[in-house]
Amino acid sequence: MADPSEIQSLRQEALHAIGAAADAGALEALRIEWIGRKGGRITALMKTIPTLPEADRAAFGQAVNELKAAVTERLDARKAALDTTPPRGPGVDVTMPGRRPQMGRAHPITRATRELCEIFGRLGFEVVEGPEVEDEWHNFVGLNIPPEHPARDPLDTFFLKDNLVLRTQTSTVQIRIMENRKPPIRIIAPGRVYRPGTVDAGHASMFHQLEGLWVEEGVTFADLKGVLAMFARAFYGPEVQTRLQPSYFPFTEPSAEIYVSCLLCGGAGCTVCKRSGWVEIGGCGMVDPNVFQAVGYDPEKVTGLAFGMGIDRLTMLKYGINHIRLLFENDLRFLRQF
Ligand code: DAH
Repeated sequence: MADPSEIQSLRQEALHAIGAAADAGALEALRIEWIGRKGGRITALMKTIPTLPEADRAAFGQAVNELKAAVTERLDARKAALDTTPPRGPGVDVTMPGRRPQMGRAHPITRATRELCEIFGRLGFEVVEGPEVEDEWHNFVGLNIPPEHPARDPLDTFFLKDNLVLRTQTSTVQIRIMENRKPPIRIIAPGRVYRPGTVDAGHASMFHQLEGLWVEEGVTFADLKGVLAMFARAFYGPEVQTRLQPSYFPFTEPSAEIYVSCLLCGGAGCTVCKRSGWVEIGGCGMVDPNVFQAVGYDPEKVTGLAFGMGIDRLTMLKYGINHIRLLFENDLRFLRQF
């Protein structure tokens, strides 16, 4: 037992095991194994000292004490090392830059609608809204659209029960406002409209319109052209040209289609403007006397201008979007570009 080479091998075994201890738990187990007060292996050696022959005690005692000191020192060193070693596994690197939260943004239709409201707001137009589920009176009758008009074909209108329809145009809001107010009136009404029909690059069953109505004594066609030209320049930039082309709508007389010079080719001719240099963005006209009569206004006293434009079309032209579907798919790769 007093053999110095045996003490030497114990020392190697202990120091090696302690150096390899992977965590505080393993280290504590080694502490108990080697120097634990009850059954520690070195403790047991010390207890044998009094039983040794007198001549051996001093040398053995010193050797065991040195062994205990070395083991204790290694235990302390290993503990300090483990305390400063970061925990294993996916540690947290506090110096790494944080992850940016994904910011949401307004849909291009929403952006365009807000801008339109702002532009017409500067021209004195108030923003109003109306219901998307409408009755036939507001969608057709009040707007001077007779029963035999093709717009009232089920191929062109989503009919619901009880004389209700999904509104096919925001012109309904003209009627609702005039029913409830007296002139002067100057409103715009943005919103969704619905039409069955063939879906293609420019047409969907649901889309958006911006309606405008200005009723007052002495409002003229010149005001109509002026309002539309000012709007187009504010929305598309000072270079854009506006053109009104004679047309027909039941609720206006005279009526016109609104064209702007093609924003994509600058008027030179491309596929969007079908090589004409002009793109239709809506209809307009002077409010038909029959409409004034339907809402109880005196057509001899007041005149009015009205217009309705496709917000989707306006948006596609502004941003160079070539398919209306892109506006409704909500593909984040598309939406993030705005
Ligand atoms: N409601 C028409 C449509 O959906 C657009 C329109 C044309 C609105 C002329 C008007 C207008 O206010 O005066 O095709």
